Amino acid sequence: MTPLIAGNWKMNGSLAANEALLGALAQGLAAPGAAEVAVCVPAPYLAQVQALKAKWPALARLQLGAQDVSHQATGAYTGEVSAAMLQDLGCRFAIVGHSERRQYHGETDARVADKAKQALARGITPIVCVGETLAEREAGHTVEVVKRQLAAVIHANGHCISEIVLAYEPVWAIGTGKTASPEEAQAVHAVLRAQLHAATPHAGLLKIIYGGSMNAGNAAALLAQPDIDGGLIGGAALKAPDFLSILAAAA
Ligand code: PGA
Repeated sequence: MTPLIAGNWKMNGSLAANEALLGALAQGLAAPGAAEVAVCVPAPYLAQVQALKAKWPALARLQLGAQDVSHQATGAYTGEVSAAMLQDLGCRFAIVGHSERRQYHGETDARVADKAKQALARGITPIVCVGETLAEREAGHTVEVVKRQLAAVIHANGHCISEIVLAYEPVWAIGTGKTASPEEAQAVHAVLRAQLHAATPHAGLLKIIYGGSMNAGNAAALLAQPDIDGGLIGGAALKAPDFLSILAAAA
C-alpha cells in the first residue's frame, strides 16, 4: 500500500514561518514520489496553505490536513471548527483524538468517535490517534487501552471504519525523543490490524501509521515493519530537511 507521511505542526508557525517551511518543502516535493504526503496545520493557517498550494505547483502533491474537528455539524459551539469548514478549505485529512487533546481538553473515546464521524460525513479522512501512557504500558495495559480507544470509533462508524487512517502514538514517545522500537510498534500495529479485520473486510488496505519521535534516523526501520504504513510526524515536520528525509525513507 502507498505509505502516508503526515506532518503535525501542532501549535507552531506564523504566516512568515509557514511560507518559509513550505517553500523549502516545495523543492523536495517537486518530483513525483511513491508516498502520500500531508501537513496538518493550525486552523488559522489552513487558508494560507491552500493558497500557497494554488500558487506553487510544486506543492501539488502535498495534501492539507487539520489537527482537530468539531464533534457537531453546525450551530452554537463557540470556538469550534466544523468538518464542512475544513472541507471548504480543501482539507483531505483531520487528526482526531490526538493524545494532547485527550489529555488537555478532556476528549473521551466517545467524543473522538463522534469527531471521526463528522469528518467522514464530509469526505475528510480522520487520522484517528490511539496510544497508551507510560503508566499504562508499565502496568501491562497497552493492548487493552488501544483496543478500547479503537473500539469506540468502530462502534460509532460501522462500515465507514474502512475510510479512516489509524495512528498508533504511544504517549510516552511523543515529543520525548523516545521512540517505540520497530518491534514494539509492530506488535501493537498487528493487534490493531486484527481488530480492524474483525470489523471490515478492507482492513488490509487501511493505513496504520506510527507517531512518536519519528525522525530521519529511525524512520526507515519503523517503516520497514509489515503493519507500519506511514508516520505522523511532530517535531521533525517543522524542519524541511528532516521531514523530506522521512518521506524519502517511506518511498
Ligand atoms: P513527535 O509528535 O513526532 O514530536 O513525537 C508526534 C505527534 O504528536 O503527532
